[in-house]
Amino acid sequence: MAKNIILLGPPGAGKGTQAKRLEETRGMVQLSTGDMLREAMASGSDMGKRVAAIMDRGELVTDEVVIGLIEEKLGQGTSGGVIFDGFPRTLKQADALGALMARLGRTLDAVIEMQVDDAVLVRRITGRYTCGQCGAVYHDETRPTKVAGTCDVCGSTEMKRRADDTEEALKTRLMEYYKKTSPLIGYYYAKGQLRSVDGLAEVDAVAAAITKVLDKV
Ligand code: AP5
Repeated sequence: MAKNIILLGPPGAGKGTQAKRLEETRGMVQLSTGDMLREAMASGSDMGKRVAAIMDRGELVTDEVVIGLIEEKLGQGTSGGVIFDGFPRTLKQADALGALMARLGRTLDAVIEMQVDDAVLVRRITGRYTCGQCGAVYHDETRPTKVAGTCDVCGSTEMKRRADDTEEALKTRLMEYYKKTSPLIGYYYAKGQLRSVDGLAEVDAVAAAITKVLDKV
């Protein structure tokens, strides 16, 4: 049966990497509010222009904007299951998601907390690059493309780095995470939906741990 899950963790925890894996292996759909906002910026839309500076600084955009994005996408071809990546990030967003899922008659099957040590995050974030075509995630040291500059998945040579992947912006992103997003750990624990995996393990081992959770819920 289709499962709907949240991947919860600080910037660089590996949410995007694992979401892409789940799309490939289980046919689930990744709903990344970060990606949606970056698409809006790239398209030059009014909303994209409004959020650009906020995102570059590493602050959270308003709840209304991201809740609207999720409402729009959740109805489109997601019956195979959804991975919420980077959403919800505040208690207000979590309440809104609960209400939306109830309205659509869907369930949230698990909230998977990816536990990491802050010390690894700077290295993970500053070494990250992604494929501009398919979004595959790489790292200068730990996960480079097999052929330099060419995506392993789709063969594109368009590689991108994010404007907020600097040490300075990461400090703000981490502060935002601890102030506004980490309370969700207690919120979902109290609802009996929280599961935790070791996000410091190798990518394959993290994927195996997530699969184990998914097979049980
Ligand atoms: P968003 O795009 O969601 O970024 P983030 O949460 O900061 O998370 P990241 O994408 O940086 O990290 P990740 O956990 O996906 O790590 P990844 O797999 O890439 O948000 C960006 C901004 O948008 C926010 O700051 C905010 O402004 C705005 N925004 C988005 N959603 C919002 C919301 N709901 N509300 C308000 N504002 C919102 O991995 C990182 C690196 O590590 C990669 O290079 C990867 O290869 C490597 N790696 C991954 N796993 C491993 C592993 N197990 N071992 C070794 N290396 C690994």
